[in-house]
Amino acid sequence: MNSPQAILELFARKGDIAYAGEGISQIEHAWQCGQLARAAGASQTLQLASWLHDLGHLLTDLDGSPTVDGIDDRHEHTAAVMLDAIWGPSVAEPVRLHVAAKRYLVATYPEYRERLSPDSVRSLALQGGAMSLEECVAFQASRYALDAQQLRSWDEAGKRPSWFASDTQHALDELRALMDRVHFLPA
Ligand SMILES: [Fe+2]
Ligand SMILES: [Fe+2]
Repeated sequence: MNSPQAILELFARKGDIAYAGEGISQIEHAWQCGQLARAAGASQTLQLASWLHDLGHLLTDLDGSPTVDGIDDRHEHTAAVMLDAIWGPSVAEPVRLHVAAKRYLVATYPEYRERLSPDSVRSLALQGGAMSLEECVAFQASRYALDAQQLRSWDEAGKRPSWFASDTQHALDELRALMDRVHFLPA
């Protein structure tokens, strides 16, 4: 189950699931975040983290928008466990922290909340809302705090309608090529 091939198959099978209320699909969001990371000159590990940050939504059996029903699917943790086993913390930790980064950014930049999509605002409350001062200090101490904040900026921007690869297969080929270039790096 913990293999690049399993992830590609998951996207092929479930990637067209709507990304909760955003007007795009999971694979479109993943692809857009990967493109934005690459355009920003991110490392290959951070590009891969950007591609796969919402993989946890595909690993759950919950349908559609769990946040509408008041459920936090803790997708950042389920994805990080899988990614850590395959590529190690440089891919897994920015993914694990991408929800924490939202809570941090809302606490430290009040205007950041206006950049959030409706589903991100809904999930923010379920995920604990803006961080407390103590939580902000702990977050800043993480080695991957900056990566997670960068990933978060692409996450917010990667929800554009009508921006995608020529087709799903082409997007998956891009993902496979990137996966092939990233090797396991222990902590
Ligand atoms: Fe997410
Ligand atoms: Fe996302």
